Amino acid sequence: MKKSFILLFLCFVTVTAFGQNVQSRIAIIPEPVTITENPGSFTLPHHITIEAPARADLKETLAFLTQKLTVPTGNEVKIIHRESADATVRLLLNKQVNNTIGDEGYQLSVMPAQVVIKANKPAGLFYGIQSLIQLFPASIETDNLVKNVTWETPCVEITDYPRFGWRGLMFDVSRHFFTKQEVEQYIDQMVRYKYNLLHLHLTDDQGWRIEIKGLPKLTEVGAWNVKKEGYFGTFTPPAPDALRNYGGFYTQDDIKELVQYAKARFVNILPEIDVPGHSLAAIASYPELSCTPGADKYQVNSGEPFMDWSHGAPPIALVDNTLCPANEKVYTFLDKVFTQVAALFPFEYIHVGGDEAPHNYWEKSPQIQALMKKEGLKNMNEVQSYFTKRVEKIVESKGKKLIGWDEILEGGLAPNAAVMSWRGMEGGIAAAKMGHEVVMSPTTYVYIDYMQGDPIVEPRVYSTLLLSKAYQFEPLPDSVDPKYIKGGQANLWTEQIYNMRYAEYMTWPRGMAIAEALWSPKAKRNWDHFFGKVEQHFKRLDAAQIKYAPSVYDPIFKVSRTTDKKLRIELGTEVNGLDIYYSFDNTFPDNFYPKYSGPLTPPDDAVMLKVITYEGNKPVGRMIYMPIEELNKRADKK
Ligand code: ACM
Repeated sequence: MKKSFILLFLCFVTVTAFGQNVQSRIAIIPEPVTITENPGSFTLPHHITIEAPARADLKETLAFLTQKLTVPTGNEVKIIHRESADATVRLLLNKQVNNTIGDEGYQLSVMPAQVVIKANKPAGLFYGIQSLIQLFPASIETDNLVKNVTWETPCVEITDYPRFGWRGLMFDVSRHFFTKQEVEQYIDQMVRYKYNLLHLHLTDDQGWRIEIKGLPKLTEVGAWNVKKEGYFGTFTPPAPDALRNYGGFYTQDDIKELVQYAKARFVNILPEIDVPGHSLAAIASYPELSCTPGADKYQVNSGEPFMDWSHGAPPIALVDNTLCPANEKVYTFLDKVFTQVAALFPFEYIHVGGDEAPHNYWEKSPQIQALMKKEGLKNMNEVQSYFTKRVEKIVESKGKKLIGWDEILEGGLAPNAAVMSWRGMEGGIAAAKMGHEVVMSPTTYVYIDYMQGDPIVEPRVYSTLLLSKAYQFEPLPDSVDPKYIKGGQANLWTEQIYNMRYAEYMTWPRGMAIAEALWSPKAKRNWDHFFGKVEQHFKRLDAAQIKYAPSVYDPIFKVSRTTDKKLRIELGTEVNGLDIYYSFDNTFPDNFYPKYSGPLTPPDDAVMLKVITYEGNKPVGRMIYMPIEELNKRADKK
């Protein structure tokens, strides 16, 4: 009895310790399908031998692994292309296909003296390497020599493969232009989390970003606007003769390089040419593409107001930013554009936008009236659907499939179109029920241009998406046949994103949450476990000098009125286990100040509530200055 009690006790201690160990030492994002931790550890020797298949499509994979294993460690790597049972790291392509892991999966064995990664295809080896790197200390992410680190990983057996084949990030390079090098940087960052699709939003009202031969004005005129800073969408209109030197575009050679860069990292690029709305840059270049007289005076938008959103979507245009569906020149133009886009991007889909096209100018256009009569179109949605069906024929004539935002459902979906569902999941569900392919990209969970914390801290955007909400993204609704749901993606619109550091801030850590929704088994998702890993990854991103948002540590403010109309302030956190300290006396709270333990009512003359979160005696959140006036406004708004 006594003996078995001791055994039970020992067993309990071991399990607990093991559990903590797993939590702290293994922090792979996205969570692998199965992980078994074994006793012992593997330490990198100074002389490392990597056995790898001799294949051109593994060149970047090997360069990446070599960089990681040599630069921060000071170790040396030798790559050999023959079987070598005693190589330090063996990268093996299965001779017999392992059906469980598919084209992107891998098996990773870390043993005390050797690491083996097996996969069916090179992409699997690449993802196995990403997981392996995440097992080493965070300093492996540094790009210079780091001393006094033991380059050690726990011994593990991992079998891993993705839940969805379409794991996308959309980067809007139109609202603000990002250089080819910056897009490459973005690709380097996304593949850490096993994303395999980069959707480039290449055209919009603020810039046309791709060279099209034979249409030079698209990039001479359409790629440039006036540099403005502040709150995009509220800028003063630029003077007619203001210098238009802000922006840029990718030459066709740039695009070819980007496509190759992405391919070498197992990423497809989905190009988007957003039509018929969001087309002001094209119209400013070639005004004949518009139905509206006077379009020859139009200029590329620089962030000044030009749409009235007060009635919801679609907006009422103050400047007609639509291509004219009744004008044959538009289809000739699009044929030219899609011929070249199709030749440049090997991916099987072309995205044609379709979102938020205002119809108010079409309603007034005699050309559109004539088209409606001729084609028997009853309303503007049917006019847009007529347009999209013609665009689908063009896209298909180039050997590609069409994908568009969910507005393309309205007025009748083009016969073979795939739908990217952004206004919630409903459009995607409807399309899947009609037998169309779907990518889920709902604002509710994956719009990473939204603020990730309180607007008093975050640069203002019209909506908020917290990390914990992004982590709830479930791409596969119960009610649809899974075969139609290709996957999902996060969207980084860049109206308010002026530079690469801020693009990073907005992408991470929410990009980690969405990566886990797209890769990991649904049953393995667990917020507390995930957030523990995110904290480890903050250290990795610090080492890699990639910016991320610490917003998840900031407190959440909730306000209401008491029965006697006093302000009632509730504070909370997304993360468990944090303490919130506060002051009303304008001084800076720390962990010696009052600790929040329940709703607060500010003293009569207080003007400012300052708050900060702590984990134990370490500050983790930012010092937040919340004017009482702001809280009163929020309480009265309800
Ligand atoms: C979109 O967000 N307008 C697709």
